[in-house]
Amino acid sequence: MGLISNPPILVGWKTTILGGDSPLVAIYYPQQVHTTDPVECLPVLGEAYWSTLENDMTNNDTHSTASDHARLNPSQVDLVARKMPFEFSDDIDPQWNKQKPEWSHMVNGASLAMPFLEPFLIRTLRKSLSQIESTQLTQDVKGYIAQEGQHFQQHRKFNDTLIQHGHVDLIAIEQQMKKEFDDFEKKRSQKFNLAYAAGFESMALGIGHWLIEDREFLFGNSDSRVASLVLWHFVEEIEHKNVAIDAYNAVYGGYFYRVYGVFYATMHVIKHTRKAYKAMLTKDGLWSKLSSRWKLQKMILRFYWKMIPHVWEACLPNHHPSKINDPKWCLDWLKKYESDHHSLALLDTGNMGSKYP
Ligand SMILES: [Fe+2]
Ligand SMILES: [Fe+2]
Repeated sequence: MGLISNPPILVGWKTTILGGDSPLVAIYYPQQVHTTDPVECLPVLGEAYWSTLENDMTNNDTHSTASDHARLNPSQVDLVARKMPFEFSDDIDPQWNKQKPEWSHMVNGASLAMPFLEPFLIRTLRKSLSQIESTQLTQDVKGYIAQEGQHFQQHRKFNDTLIQHGHVDLIAIEQQMKKEFDDFEKKRSQKFNLAYAAGFESMALGIGHWLIEDREFLFGNSDSRVASLVLWHFVEEIEHKNVAIDAYNAVYGGYFYRVYGVFYATMHVIKHTRKAYKAMLTKDGLWSKLSSRWKLQKMILRFYWKMIPHVWEACLPNHHPSKINDPKWCLDWLKKYESDHHSLALLDTGNMGSKYP
């Protein structure tokens, strides 16, 4: 599949993390985008965001040691924004797992949501800061914001490669997602938005456990760049598992509304992910193939089978993510980052079953 050279395409929006009113639409020419450019150069980023983020990170202790991350009590973990050296060049095949094209597009579909979902989470958590009294939770929220800021920027770069490979139907889905998240902020309450954030993080924690436990099946012999992106993201999702729920509990609390947030966020993200993978599978001629639809269905069932226990756990009245032990592979990843983050950006997908990253 070749690159699109003309005409210019709409691939993203300048994201107003700080809730400003600047125009959101940015059009750029795909041939001018270099995915190896520093993230600050990409058109979806706002300078205001970066200066604020840097301030947040300066105020944080971002030089914690690896041993800090092994603790299960979230309030004692200094969340670190890791700038991973990913290189998403044009040769990334959207079917980055050749044995599992349906799974590839499921992941691509979820990735498509990140540059819209995660800025929404950031703005929501940032708004909650003025209502949070705890110094520790304030620091946690700032660390959370810094991590999510890295996540969506890396996904933006990856998503651009999908669109550049001809999956232009994704643009309309992005527009719809942007509208819905904007509407949440304009029309729904801050309590709803914070419950959504806490609910999404509950789902992300479950997905993180699944991806790590099932990593050999899901990522074995796939493109290392994509596998490493996804696993880095979910290692950090596990690491900051407590922040959104702690913020929700500190500002509003309320068990039933929190559970509502779990279901709402889960179904909302699944809805958009499904639209996106359907569009990609259709373009690749797989949506109409019975064998592909069967493989897709098996992957979806696998997802629900693995996720249901986590969602159940998240819906218990006394649920708190700190009670859930982190996978050892995840903790080893965090330790290894201190000495060798370059190899973590290129995991050995030929040996994904290894105990260590
Ligand atoms: Fe994230
Ligand atoms: Fe997160």
